[in-house]
Amino acid sequence: MKKVTLHDKTFSISIPYAEIQQAIEKVAAQINRDMVGETPIFVGLLNGAFMFAADLLKLVEIPAEVSFIKYSSYQGTQSSGEVSELIGLNTNLKGRTVIIIEDIIDTGTTVTKLLKDLQSKELKQVKIATLLFKPEAFKGNYAVDYIGFSIPNDFIVGYGLDYDELGRNLKDIYTLVP
Ligand code: IMP
Ligand code: MG
Repeated sequence: MKKVTLHDKTFSISIPYAEIQQAIEKVAAQINRDMVGETPIFVGLLNGAFMFAADLLKLVEIPAEVSFIKYSSYQGTQSSGEVSELIGLNTNLKGRTVIIIEDIIDTGTTVTKLLKDLQSKELKQVKIATLLFKPEAFKGNYAVDYIGFSIPNDFIVGYGLDYDELGRNLKDIYTLVP
């Protein structure tokens, strides 16, 4: 079994790239079918979604725009709380179909926040595409429209996902060895 060590932890391969590619082909086929006549804006969430976005978009056959956003967290100088600001979303989204691209939906908090930030934009519709979904951890009250894999509540790395910023460049997905 292929293993990697990142910082102090060891991970073993759980989803090889060939399987990732197959799951992405299914998601792309669903999007191509559902989005006939639309010109959606795909919005990828950095950093984690960069690899999924690149492979998915190569298989999208409808006309599409592509953009990326990032939540930057920083400690406020005055307040003690953590502030998280959305950067990169400058496009006029009024009347548009937006497809959010996420690497993994775990508790669902990140996408809940993004949906809230999109509320004032007068979109036509918003859909969510995630490569990985942890149903046991999910606490969101929205539908996840396109899912590559539903996985158990384990910590994984690779294919964009990190453990303390390492592992994003791995081609396959690895699971933490307990
Ligand atoms: P959520 O807000 O709880 O849905 O978590 C989403 C974010 O947490 C993802 O975009 C990842 O950055 C991170 N995350 C959640 N689960 C994992 C994991 O198993 N490995 C690496 N990062 C994860
Ligand atoms: Mg992420």
